[in-house]
Amino acid sequence: MTLPWGRTFLMCPPEHFGVLYEINPWMHQEVAVDLDRARAQWDGLVDVLRQAGAEVEILPPEPNHPDLVFTANAGVVNGRCFVPSRFRHPERRGEEEHYAAWFSSHGYEVAALPPTVSHEGAGDALPFGGVFLSGYRQRSDAAAHAQLSRLIGAPVRPIELADERYYHLDLTFCPLDDRRALVAPDAWDTYGRRVVEALVPEPLALTVDETAGFCANSVVVGTTVVMPACPPRVGRRLEAWGFDVVEAPVGEFQKAGGACRCLTLALDVAVGPNV
Ligand code: ARG
Repeated sequence: MTLPWGRTFLMCPPEHFGVLYEINPWMHQEVAVDLDRARAQWDGLVDVLRQAGAEVEILPPEPNHPDLVFTANAGVVNGRCFVPSRFRHPERRGEEEHYAAWFSSHGYEVAALPPTVSHEGAGDALPFGGVFLSGYRQRSDAAAHAQLSRLIGAPVRPIELADERYYHLDLTFCPLDDRRALVAPDAWDTYGRRVVEALVPEPLALTVDETAGFCANSVVVGTTVVMPACPPRVGRRLEAWGFDVVEAPVGEFQKAGGACRCLTLALDVAVGPNV
């Protein structure tokens, strides 16, 4: 069965995108971003998502927030509830008010985490099998999970992210349908691997090179998997499972440590008894 979510996404055009600081191992300020190419890649991703049948809503771009394009980090959406992110790094904290403003003006109930914990939203929290898997250590705190679960009214299972290159869960995990997901077990600790093994009946385990190519940072719209680049082995496996793979190159954004999934926030996630 296809995923019950992933038909409506929030995205922010890269008007003010850039690598203006370094808060993950992929970011190097001396590497120039080609803004025209970034815009073309972003437009390409929007086109591919729309062709796959998704709707895209637009968050207005804001100067001085070069990472605002990574809307996956806006917060966690469940039904009409929105839990805004509390960013680990001060460089991104100014984004919080822009996300909160969009969600309150669009009729969401905004429920805040206590200021003492960090959590970086859907980048670190993906639904699968009736729970949210939530990555922690680099960006989100394990201590946020009980609160998050209470606010969104759904179970949260923590996954420790053990490799600093994969600082958000969505670089290591991508739900494909109700039984399958792309997984990067090398990026998790032993307990995290066991949690995923118990939850995902048919995982497609990525090699270290496939993970480093941002393969898991894909967007799934029904039976279409939108990937930054698809290694042949992964493509064959997905096609055998009945998926169409569409490549949407986003190399300019990879310079900031993000790819297709990071540039989107699913607005139609609904997990648990209250949604
Ligand atoms: N430069 C951004 C950061 O380090 C990239 C965010 C990528 N987002 C994601 N959901 N993985 O915060």
